[in-house]
Amino acid sequence: MSFQTLKPPSKRGVRLREHTSLGVGGAVKLFFAPRSIGELREELQWAREECVPVRVLGGGTNTVCRDEVFCGAIISLQALNCACHEGRRIRARAGCSLPGLVRKSPGLGLSGLEVLAGIPGTIGGAVVMNAGGRHGTIGPLVEEVRTLTLGGEEKVYYSLTERFSYRKGDFGAEIVTEVVLKLEYSRPEIVRQRIRRILREKIGSQPCSARSAGCVFRNPPGDSAGRLIDACGLKGASSGGMLISPVHANFIVNTGEGTFAEFMALAELAKTEVHKRFGVALEFEVNIV
Ligand code: EPU
Repeated sequence: MSFQTLKPPSKRGVRLREHTSLGVGGAVKLFFAPRSIGELREELQWAREECVPVRVLGGGTNTVCRDEVFCGAIISLQALNCACHEGRRIRARAGCSLPGLVRKSPGLGLSGLEVLAGIPGTIGGAVVMNAGGRHGTIGPLVEEVRTLTLGGEEKVYYSLTERFSYRKGDFGAEIVTEVVLKLEYSRPEIVRQRIRRILREKIGSQPCSARSAGCVFRNPPGDSAGRLIDACGLKGASSGGMLISPVHANFIVNTGEGTFAEFMALAELAKTEVHKRFGVALEFEVNIV
């Protein structure tokens, strides 16, 4: 593999800890931030021809990266961030900030996105994770999804109900590049009030301002991973710079220079104790890469 033949502009010396909300992750060999679908396609083609492994990153808010050097190319979609709206619909490129869209929706007189208030990340990441919480998920708002296959082919999906399940939007290995949301008309003040209420609720029950990757484990059917970890007495347990949040036990927060290994040590501790005490096998919700 020769990086000399590199055509697309790439940044070097990037460390993934700077691109993930948890703040862990080692250096990467190549870092691309395409500004158009054309650029994204060129970068994928180059990586294919050079046999360079590729990983796609949205907002990095649900991803826990290893500390070793990644000898491949990271493609960050954050510069693919234009959006427009027409009537009840918002068309947004994958890298658009989800909180940004939530904030803008009342001013457009549109309701629906407020159920996602307090969830960080990009709209592309939100679709791939079927992001949501107690008040709803993004799935039912999505009318159209555009993707790019790793081979560079563009695809458009309209019938989407079947693709969304608990914390998953199933588009295989394809890269979500654009999303159309269909919202409802509403009075701005009503939507703003709902956003404020949901944000207050979140701030009271989750470590929103700490560095984390969101909920670490999926909820087991009919129960809450946070409740189970809490019942094992693990709130406040720490490993180096990582801490099981005293606010919500399904969050591991980075209090300083926490590492991937320290995160995994706490996650394993939670898994082992919950299994010992309740016989429940917790599964990761975060992406470990
Ligand atoms: N609980 C505890 N201790 C804790 C945490 C929770 O006893 O440390 C109890 C709560 O008191 C409550 C129950 O467990 O009775 C459920 O807790 P909560 O309402 O906080 O919801 P959750 O099931 O832990 C889910 C989602 C969150 C989402 C919240 C609120 C998952 C894995 N978690 O959490 O999503 O924000 O509901 O809607 O689905 C995420 O996916 O990253 C995420 C944060």
